[in-house]
Amino acid sequence: MDSDSKKRLAAEAAIDYLEVGSIVGVGTGSTVNHFIDALARVKGKIDGAVSSSEASTARLKGHGIPVLDLNACGELGLYVDGADEATRHLHLIKGGGGALTREKIIAAASRKFVCIADDSKLVDVLGAFPLPVEVIPMARSYVARELLQRGGQPVLREGFVTDNGNLILDVHHLEILEPAALERDLNQIVGVVTNGLFAARPADALLLGGDDGVRTIDGSSGV
Ligand code: 5RP
Repeated sequence: MDSDSKKRLAAEAAIDYLEVGSIVGVGTGSTVNHFIDALARVKGKIDGAVSSSEASTARLKGHGIPVLDLNACGELGLYVDGADEATRHLHLIKGGGGALTREKIIAAASRKFVCIADDSKLVDVLGAFPLPVEVIPMARSYVARELLQRGGQPVLREGFVTDNGNLILDVHHLEILEPAALERDLNQIVGVVTNGLFAARPADALLLGGDDGVRTIDGSSGV
């Protein structure tokens, strides 16, 4: 099975987590696009969505799904999003699509975070995928020097501006053995908006699409 079909399987499985009459948080990326398409088929069950990017907003609205301001919604019951890498401990690297800050905000504001991905995203140790760091433009060089001191190799994502008007540094060559500690440390660098490690607030469940269907890893299974 190709990776896009695996992504679709995982995305469609996330529909089972929806609560009738709720507002669902929606992430960004090709896996989430399958989730949005599946959501459109059951849109009568939900009151609307909170979106993590302009791209997801456009797709949701294209399907006639109301998009609401997070500030008007209180705590969300469910957030569904993809990942660039995930461990069996439900720690993630996200931000390949550059939407990491809004994604992290919605994840923090949600009771349950269901991560959807194809099975190639499962890794033992995070860091083969370059870690995205969103940076205020005037701090770009300073933050890059700080990242070099921490053993990373930052590369500016050329021609890319986030929905918040900032830049992304993709940090190569990090072997991330303590994701929560690194997440905290990088967020202390002045000029960093946030980084793509999701460890302080990990996923609650990981749905992995594969040749044999969808495998679920949740906090209690730990496999
Ligand atoms: C966007 C993200 C995405 O969830 C991540 O890049 C995975 O994308 P895809 O579903 O296209 O593989 O974090 O900022």
